[in-house]
Amino acid sequence: MSRVNELLGARYPIIQGAMGVICNPELVAAVSEAGGFGLLATAFTEDPEFLRNQIKATKQLTNKPFGSNLFVMNPLALKFAEVLAEEGIRTVTVSGGSPKAFIPLLHDLGIKVIVVAPTVQGAKGAEALGADAVVAEGAESGGVQGFKGVSTFVLVPAVVDAVKIPVIAAGGIGDSRGYKAALALGAEGVQMGTRFIATKECIAHSTYKNIIVDSDETGTGLVNMGRFQIRALRTSLGERLIKEEDRTRPGFTKQVMEDTWIKGDLEAGVLPAGQVAGLISGIPAVREVIEEIAG
Ligand SMILES: Cc1cc2nc3c(=O)[nH]c(=O)nc-3n(C[C@H](O)[C@H](O)[C@H](O)COP(=O)(O)O)c2cc1C
Repeated sequence: MSRVNELLGARYPIIQGAMGVICNPELVAAVSEAGGFGLLATAFTEDPEFLRNQIKATKQLTNKPFGSNLFVMNPLALKFAEVLAEEGIRTVTVSGGSPKAFIPLLHDLGIKVIVVAPTVQGAKGAEALGADAVVAEGAESGGVQGFKGVSTFVLVPAVVDAVKIPVIAAGGIGDSRGYKAALALGAEGVQMGTRFIATKECIAHSTYKNIIVDSDETGTGLVNMGRFQIRALRTSLGERLIKEEDRTRPGFTKQVMEDTWIKGDLEAGVLPAGQVAGLISGIPAVREVIEEIAG
């Protein structure tokens, strides 16, 4: 059993990464039931009681451990930590900014902290602040990222060499080959996002899932949002934004995410996904994904 299995309390060291408004309780519970570790997301959550209800709904579906992500850019993130503790969540990921204010608070609440880092510097900083593990997330991953652009294949061994805490690899992993490669690079676990969108249990609109399935390895690009960028699918709007032909950036709000990701309005916003979309060719149940990887 790896240190990551122990940290998560899961059979397999496989985390379903947080994904804004599409980490529905059915998805999170299905991942944990299949032996992985599901994560609820709070990046766009506007009310602590909504998070509490999501936790309760997930607990109705599984008695296995699951966690939550705290997204530093959300001004309510520290408030959410209290709800997580009250509801018995034992392990969280922290992403989207400095974890400095979060690590001592979460530890005082009895919660283990995994920090998402896109560079060696970020990973070493997280270790120095007392993080229990790091997710080393390469630039081929879907969603929000910075501007450094280090690939998973370089980042993971560099972070493994630089820190003593367990390293979890993210970005570009979608099947047993990616999982084995991550372990060969020295990671003790993996986090996957895009692979879990294209599953039966994910609440994402079928259009979103089908575009992932139809994409090849060139099917995503980077949309500059100013303070950060987003790796997104080359829908018509996505392509215009990637090429900067269209400079009216869509809002990055809960409403926009729901309209695009759940309702399938492709002109409301972008569909984040990683380059691994090019390796995804079906929409299986979560259990099939996890069993192919670790079973
Ligand atoms: C639609 C979408 C939304 C995401 N939202 C979040 C988030 O709220 N918090 C976070 O830490 N990571 C977020 N991520 C990143 C994932 O948790 C995960 O680390 C990433 O998808 C891994 O790379 P992969 O897509 O190549 O598997 C998001 C990714 C996607 C595709």
